[in-house]
Amino acid sequence: MGWWKKSIAIIKENDPAARTSLEVLLTYPGIKALAAHRLSHWLWNRKLKLLARMHSQFWRFWTQIEIHPGAQIAAGVFIDHGSGLVIGETAIVEEGVLLYHGVTLGGTGKDTGKRHPTVRKGALISAHSQIIGPIEIGERAKVGAASVVLTSVPADVTVVGVPAKVVRVHGRKDEAVIHDLQAAREASYYSSHL
Ligand SMILES: CC(C)(COP(=O)(O)OP(=O)(O)OC[C@H]1O[C@@H](n2cnc3c(N)ncnc32)[C@H](O)[C@@H]1OP(=O)(O)O)[C@@H](O)C(=O)NCCC(=O)NCCS
Repeated sequence: MGWWKKSIAIIKENDPAARTSLEVLLTYPGIKALAAHRLSHWLWNRKLKLLARMHSQFWRFWTQIEIHPGAQIAAGVFIDHGSGLVIGETAIVEEGVLLYHGVTLGGTGKDTGKRHPTVRKGALISAHSQIIGPIEIGERAKVGAASVVLTSVPADVTVVGVPAKVVRVHGRKDEAVIHDLQAAREASYYSSHL
């Protein structure tokens, strides 16, 4: 399936308000921002970096979605609403990911090189969540609205809160598994920050 088909399909699958492909193309800012990003990214990779940044800032003005031209974003990603969403230079977003308004895939300001998150296939990042640092959000993981995530999230796990903690694993509230996963996340956080 081509880029446009995948981008329209994921919107229609996930948003009951999306009635027709034409409506999606004309009224969804996320698809416009992602289409524009393809050109910004192309320019960026051809060392036309200032032009790439100007192009992405132009589309930020029209969509309120700021995607750095260096970010790697697969086809078939859905940015819903999008206002205030920011994706940093070294972020990677895989197919099937849902991102809502106010989400940041940002850096801590302390890392160099790969300093933004990687969001694996099918993950859901809810509105106003801040995903910070070169961490990984696993396949099909869910991040609750307004969470702050500083540590990687395994596949099929739900995290919520500030800082985000594990609340479900495969959709289940299995206290023992949740406790072990959360302890492992905290240990990895402290080992990399002390
Ligand atoms: C987290 C979310 C994705 C649901 O994931 P889920 O795996 O189905 O999790 P549940 O709904 O079963 O909730 C798990 C627990 O987290 C709590 N929780 C859910 N979202 C939360 C949040 N944003 N902040 C704090 N706690 C939250 C629930 O109350 C529940 O608590 P409990 O263990 O005491 O019962 C969903 O709640 C969410 O945040 N959706 C927002 C989507 C969005 O951005 N919509 C905007 C559309 S415009």
